[in-house]
Amino acid sequence: MSQSQFVSKCTTDALQLAATTLLHGNLVAFPTETVYGLGADALNKQAVARIYETKGRPSDHPLIVHLHSMQVMGQWIEDVPEYAIALGRDFWPGPMTLIFKRSTLAQDFITGGQNTVGIRVPDHVVALALLEAFHTLGGRGIAAPSANRFGHVSPTTAQAVSDELSEYLRPEDQILDGGPCTVGVESTIIDCTGPAPRILRPGGITIEMIEESTGLTLLQTIDSKEEIRVSGSLEKHYSPTAKVILDTAPIAGQGFLALADSKTPEGVIRLAEPKDIVEFARDLYAALRKADEMGLAEVVVEQPQGEGLAIAIRDRLERASKGR
Ligand code: TXA
Ligand code: MG
Repeated sequence: MSQSQFVSKCTTDALQLAATTLLHGNLVAFPTETVYGLGADALNKQAVARIYETKGRPSDHPLIVHLHSMQVMGQWIEDVPEYAIALGRDFWPGPMTLIFKRSTLAQDFITGGQNTVGIRVPDHVVALALLEAFHTLGGRGIAAPSANRFGHVSPTTAQAVSDELSEYLRPEDQILDGGPCTVGVESTIIDCTGPAPRILRPGGITIEMIEESTGLTLLQTIDSKEEIRVSGSLEKHYSPTAKVILDTAPIAGQGFLALADSKTPEGVIRLAEPKDIVEFARDLYAALRKADEMGLAEVVVEQPQGEGLAIAIRDRLERASKGR
């Protein structure tokens, strides 16, 4: 597929233009270390409404507000517990989203009507440069979900964003190309509204890292159907068109994703052979997309074992395997 008219390289000029474009109420897709985000001015109701339209996402699913620095998060939130300060200091910029009680700045069109708001400082030069340029122009934060259609696989390249969303974008919108994402799965979401942190979505920042940073034992993860709506925790999510089968024995004609030490049987289409868990996360979504580009009906994925990032990978694959 060819690059669309929306994609631009991240020159200083392109970043300035993107910040202005955002301030004028348009959308800018940008790279982060996890996945590409579809950004809009977090204070602009019409612009945020376009995120929902473009993604085909239900309007009651809240958005994460991205900031260039933890220093400016106070305007968006209230009641920041000590442990959240420790987390921010240790892991931001990084693949972590913290959920706090919202201030009046975080309006219903960002929070889906909930009284909490998600904040993230991403660890990517392009994302940070864009956020800083936006801040310099007087912007307060960029709301951004993953830049995919609702329920699909998150994009980890500008090309994937273009393939997903070009037909829904307007001429003024932009996609910034910052190369492939280095983490590859979405941020760890941590609820910071209770006496101790609670993971709502596993990601690059792991249980061990959070407990080490805060000196606290995590609260039990709740069932997502309860009061907090995390669309990424819906049973069916992160799904390619191909059927995802969690197994170790693919047969001829099926796609296959597994660590490099698993052999590819005759006639099986190997989509990626990551050498470790970090590479597995990085390759995951691109491999699922490749299966769709090749028109494969089924992809067999061998779930990686272990803790840390492997938990996030298994979480996404469990959901992808529920199909669409
Ligand atoms: O890595 C990431 O987090 C990427 C990059 C672009 O930053 N963003 C991302 O956004 O994955 P999204 O919207 O695709 O997934 C964020 C999840 C959603 O499931 C949303 O429901 C949840 O975060 N979320 C946002 N605000 C929340 C809140 N106040 N309470 C509970 N969940 C929230
Ligand atoms: Mg998403």
